[in-house]
Amino acid sequence: MQKTQEILEARDFITGKTQHQPTIGLILGSGLGTLADEIENAVVIPYAEIPYFAKSEAVGHANELVIGQLKGKTVVAMKGRFHYYEGYTLPEVTFPVRVMKALGVETVIVTNACGAVNTSFNPGDLMLITDHINLVANNPLIGPNNDELGVRFPDMSQVYNPELRALAQEVAAEQGIGLQQGVYTWWTGPAYETPAEIRMIRTLGGDAVGMSTVPEAIVAVHGGMKVLGISCLTNMACGILDQPLNHEEVIEVAARVRENFVGLVKGVLEKV
Ligand code: 6GU
Repeated sequence: MQKTQEILEARDFITGKTQHQPTIGLILGSGLGTLADEIENAVVIPYAEIPYFAKSEAVGHANELVIGQLKGKTVVAMKGRFHYYEGYTLPEVTFPVRVMKALGVETVIVTNACGAVNTSFNPGDLMLITDHINLVANNPLIGPNNDELGVRFPDMSQVYNPELRALAQEVAAEQGIGLQQGVYTWWTGPAYETPAEIRMIRTLGGDAVGMSTVPEAIVAVHGGMKVLGISCLTNMACGILDQPLNHEEVIEVAARVRENFVGLVKGVLEKV
């Protein structure tokens, strides 16, 4: 269980470093962290300094919280996140989301680089997450419920906020950015899926597959925050094309579509 006192201690550490009062949280996925570099009047706090934060070790991730203004909004951005496959517990993975809430965040924009399962998608496409499938036999809310944070059995009928999704589509249309829509499937990693597993995921209704996002989204909803999810489809999932997967390709493609991704998120921030 995530303890209120630990969350508040982390919050107090952060509010001791900055006067900024963020209302929007950004969780930036692999190769997408550069958006944080555009934050104005930025206060940068390494995760290692924040009480009860774990340390992220994933390639392509920095490990810092960046707080400041972006498109007229006060935001707190996670440049780098904690992944389950790194060995962290799900309460550790999602602790920063609790701290965001304690800081006053009402809306969380969760992003990731992931694989395309829907064969009509292409590498480099952006995808608005409409819903998710949790294929990991775990949930960040397992354990005694902290009633101060949320209810025992939170409703998950609209994890990805319909108004925010409509807004993202509006912004994408205005900017001429193609935006797919689909269901994100959470897989533990760190091994990529087999071709048989990808066929299974497609049969189950997954359009994309990745190793993050779902725990943070569940905790954000539990905490009463609105969630917008945006995926960068860096590659076709295993078995769709006749070629092996590698992490370098994921980072490379994320870098290539960064401009559209950054434009989309900034456009959403402007209007939200
Ligand atoms: Cl194909 N699978 C998973 N689980 N994560 C990914 C990916 C695939 N491509 C990028 N990230």
